[in-house]
Amino acid sequence: MCGIFGYIGSKKNAAQTVLSGLKLLEYRGYDSWGIAIKPQNLKLKTQNEKLIIDKHIGKIGKAVIGNKLSVISHLAIGHTRWATHGGVTDKNAHPHLDCKKEIAVVHNGIIENFEDLKKDLKNKGHKFASETDSEIIPHLIEEEMKTTKNIEKAVKNTFNKLKGMNALVVSSIKSNEIIAAKTGSPLVVGKGEEDFYLASDASGILPHTKNLLFMSDNQMVILGKKPKLLNLLDGKTEKMTFEKATWETKFEEKGDFPHFMIKEIGQQSTIIRSIAKNIDSQLEKLTAAIENAHGTFFIGAGTAYHAGLVGTYLFSKISKRHVNMAVASEFNYLLDFINKESLIIALSQSGETIDVIEPLSIAQKKGSTIASLVNSPGSTIFRMSDIKLLLNAGVEQAVASTKAYTAKVSKLLIISYMIYKREDEASKQLLLAAEEIDRIIKEKEKLKPVADFLSKSENVYIIGRGVSFATSLEAALKIKEVTYIHAEGLAGGELKHGTLALISKGTPCIVFAPQDETYQAILSNAIEIKSRGGVIIGVGPKKEDVFDYFIQVKDCLDANPIAQIVPAQILAYLIAVKRGLDPDKPRNLAKSVTVK
Ligand code: AGP
Ligand code: GLU
Repeated sequence: MCGIFGYIGSKKNAAQTVLSGLKLLEYRGYDSWGIAIKPQNLKLKTQNEKLIIDKHIGKIGKAVIGNKLSVISHLAIGHTRWATHGGVTDKNAHPHLDCKKEIAVVHNGIIENFEDLKKDLKNKGHKFASETDSEIIPHLIEEEMKTTKNIEKAVKNTFNKLKGMNALVVSSIKSNEIIAAKTGSPLVVGKGEEDFYLASDASGILPHTKNLLFMSDNQMVILGKKPKLLNLLDGKTEKMTFEKATWETKFEEKGDFPHFMIKEIGQQSTIIRSIAKNIDSQLEKLTAAIENAHGTFFIGAGTAYHAGLVGTYLFSKISKRHVNMAVASEFNYLLDFINKESLIIALSQSGETIDVIEPLSIAQKKGSTIASLVNSPGSTIFRMSDIKLLLNAGVEQAVASTKAYTAKVSKLLIISYMIYKREDEASKQLLLAAEEIDRIIKEKEKLKPVADFLSKSENVYIIGRGVSFATSLEAALKIKEVTYIHAEGLAGGELKHGTLALISKGTPCIVFAPQDETYQAILSNAIEIKSRGGVIIGVGPKKEDVFDYFIQVKDCLDANPIAQIVPAQILAYLIAVKRGLDPDKPRNLAKSVTVK
């Protein structure tokens, strides 16, 4: 979601550098893009000289990077937009300009008070070209410039007027600097030999330099001949300290696979085996923190939330511990009782999800210990955590999370066994699951008749009990996001409390039926659905009469949720392909969700 990339320095092709940087951030997802270039041969005194602005809906094509915008320039800023305010149009794409078209701004986030600010600017005569919240920024800077005459101060005053989680980058025709400020939304500065890079994600900068400065909230940076870092709260200058990145972001190619999603589904068994064999020291640290905490809370969004929900069942059953699980975006409203004794464990593939970062920051201010399970080293959540656990699942490129999910659940299984020093048992079960996943993938053709049946449906209901309830939620999410079929996951026991009313002749229902303590009860639920005309797709070790279709997943003990989700991931993939959709880039969704 929304990429920002800026360049200033000795290279003569700033625009190409920025466009290539934005391409590296493409995996995050976007709907339109744009760039502002300050051409080299500007005669600043000539009134007609303008920044070159180019913006479009759709993706940045190879042709654009190769040919167009090859003007000689040492300064450019670019943006990939994921629309929040205003439709996906060329006009709404960033950069946005002030009335005089001298100040260009790219912005990530949502300006919560933009309506009031815009009304005020309109009253002062400012004319707007887009429907975005972002466009108020260049106009506010223009307004500030009338009194301060100083771009630095004008950006600072403007930034302090904005409410919400925002990152903004400014370039003006009248200055040889890039100015950027942020709160909430990430910004990273890279220092090259004779240049600076600025991006919303370090992966875009790493091919150029490993010297990184991760901006903190309420900081402003001025990049140019006299680089400067300012604290916007007290106005003081801060030392620019660059740290050496010790990691690389290795984007993979699809290779022989038609899509990243199916490639990543296939990588899961290898990742799980590696997790089973490598018990890292951070795991021990986290286990000790759980033992000492007065209240442990998992938070996560989407798939990460489901992984945490699996964790709550594993912790209850294996470690006899109560762990609270909250949807990250709701945790803000559940924080009142959090204190120094609390332990918050954030789950996140990207490590950049704003819905997770916001409550984490609040909890951190209250003195709680922050731990995280993330897949991206160097990400905001990773850096802000006291205890950092990497998933080591490799870069996940498909929007639908698969391998990061099973990696999170695998780590949680190990932790829940580690509390009683029985991690060997967890490892054994993980290896069992890895073997079963290999078999399921090898025999994936067997899933095609089910996928064909489901691809014709408008709705599918998915039930499970106990830990399989969490699996049913995750299975539903996978189907929803890549196939656009309405899929609803629910606890088997909840059916009779409402959803049963939606079952009629031919309604598909996936039933997770592992042979655990939920077996008899979930089969009864399946019979209730079948009695109302539902078509039952049973998932478990044993075929039952009530199943119209049967997907075998052999018993993997407490690692069942890891093996069970894989056929659902494959089904979601097969249905998407059958429906002619691109499973890697579902409509309206982004990989890295950096707005609230
Ligand atoms: C997963 O398939 C989704 N695309 C989405 O729910 C995702 O899990 C969620 O946005 C959280 O992302 P994170 O793990 O990067 O924090
Ligand atoms: N709110 C802004 C817009 O809709 C920025 C969105 C983004 O972060 O990409 O243009």
